[in-house]
Amino acid sequence: MHRAMIQARKKRVAVLISGRGSNMQALVEAARAPDYPAEIALVVSNRPEAPGLAWAKAQGLATLALNHKLYESREHFEGQLQSVLELSRIDLVALAGFLRLMTAPFVERWQGRMINIHPSLLPAFKGLHTHEQALAAGVRISGCTVHFVTPEMDGGPIIAQAAVPVLPDDTPETLADRVLAAEHKLYPTALARVARDQAAWTGDVVSVQLVENAGVNQEQALFSPWPPRAGY
Ligand code: GRF
Repeated sequence: MHRAMIQARKKRVAVLISGRGSNMQALVEAARAPDYPAEIALVVSNRPEAPGLAWAKAQGLATLALNHKLYESREHFEGQLQSVLELSRIDLVALAGFLRLMTAPFVERWQGRMINIHPSLLPAFKGLHTHEQALAAGVRISGCTVHFVTPEMDGGPIIAQAAVPVLPDDTPETLADRVLAAEHKLYPTALARVARDQAAWTGDVVSVQLVENAGVNQEQALFSPWPPRAGY
């Protein structure tokens, strides 16, 4: 059979942003690969002036500015968003720096089909100012998490995580940069996993299928601070 005929249909993804959109950009770039299981069918920003929206438009992607300030309530805003997602036949929603809390009914309608990226190793450091929180707590390792969205902010079941060391001279900015670089790798792989139905949400946790061993040493540990080359 022709290869194109046996390939599963690409999932149609809407990426929701509020600002810079560097994670959205990472998803768009990953989705250009012919064998990527999802396509970025729509980019929505609740802030018309978001730099990410201008970038997406310049790429020729379908974009929409949905200014939440023009809606009298969260429900009205979400009603409009839902219509747009339905009209665009969206399968999956990826939040990428989308700074708008959503109501439980909207979140529940997208249960198992809406994911988010958060710049900490959840369940540690939910909410805003995650890097300040991490530095204040003195953790030696931080990172990022992709999770399914539930009504509890940053509380949904975890799909994938990446860890980075916290270095002695880190500021919130230097730590944010290191975590962001990991985010740009993690989000495309996590979305692909969800799009291929390789991340099943059962009960409170997600079970993931390990598809292949891409040369990764499964025993590898991240030490921080790292031990000296020899001795202790
Ligand atoms: C990222 O750190 C993401 O984890 C968090 O908000 C930030 C968005 O950055 N949710 P960008 O807009 O993707 O560049």
